[in-house]
Amino acid sequence: MIEGQPSRTALMTAVQRAHHYLTAPEPKILRDDLAFALTGLESTEVLQSYLDAITAQFAALSDAETAKTFVSRIDGAVCMRSRVVEEKLAEADVEQLVILGAGLDSLAYRRPDLTANLQVFEVDHPATQQWKKDQITAANITVPDNVAFTAFDFENQTLAEALKAGGVRQDKPTFFTWLGVHMYLTDEAVKSTLNVMGAHAPGSEMVMDFISPSYVLAGGVAEDSVEQLKEVVMKMGEPIKSQYYEPELEERLNTAGFDRVDFLNARWLIDHYLDGVKAAFDMPDEATSILWAKRS
Ligand SMILES: C[S@@+](CC[C@H](N)C(=O)[O-])C[C@H]1O[C@@H](n2cnc3c(N)ncnc32)[C@H](O)[C@@H]1O
Repeated sequence: MIEGQPSRTALMTAVQRAHHYLTAPEPKILRDDLAFALTGLESTEVLQSYLDAITAQFAALSDAETAKTFVSRIDGAVCMRSRVVEEKLAEADVEQLVILGAGLDSLAYRRPDLTANLQVFEVDHPATQQWKKDQITAANITVPDNVAFTAFDFENQTLAEALKAGGVRQDKPTFFTWLGVHMYLTDEAVKSTLNVMGAHAPGSEMVMDFISPSYVLAGGVAEDSVEQLKEVVMKMGEPIKSQYYEPELEERLNTAGFDRVDFLNARWLIDHYLDGVKAAFDMPDEATSILWAKRS
């Protein structure tokens, strides 16, 4: 992240959720009806220009058609990971929800049916969190009383201490979401974050997405997309610092205390969220980028 500035990738993912909500055909993967307001963009035309500019960056690294495919994949992945959270949270038996690296996530204001009975903690880098609070105020969004904000820097602070100071109880079953964050952190920060999550009470769960080393995805378009994403986000000042093989991540999660780990592959996501139609999320069937884990 650029020192003292809010995360630009947090704006990008909110733009993607907003675009999906405003333009995707029914049934939508995700209904984030607050995303557009949270971006602070003046109009849907400005939103479209923002996305066109991102697509142009990908096109400069490939060609217009490939760029369209990549951006559509990223849009799909961003909406699907939030949808997985909503579905898993609906089934979870937990008392706390901790949204790590929350960005402009709107779950706690948008889905009281899932969150009203939980203590919710939004944890994010101080600059991003302050920007989000400003966006919330500007958009006239009401933050429910059960939502608390904890400013935290994964690279320079201790998560366990920050959570404790923020009121998170380790002895309560807790649902963690960690969407679109690990890749911007060092391996050390990732490891210690997983350990902190896994140290929470039995019944705790987590959903995260992840990026594999490019060579796992060898075979053309999938591989290129990771390399090109790295270039695009690096230009935003948020270089990718960690990537994981599935087995490596599973081992880390087991060591951290999660004894059940489910990787959701592209075929499962397409069947569940896109009615089996691959065009909008054109990934190899076995590619995975989202996982759910539980400590029983
Ligand atoms: C791509 S955004 C994802 C935001 C949100 N989870 C979503 O799904 O839209 C990356 C998030 O990671 C956070 N982040 C990146 N590096 C961080 C750090 N060192 N400490 C705290 N947060 C960090 C950013 O502030 C931002 O909110």
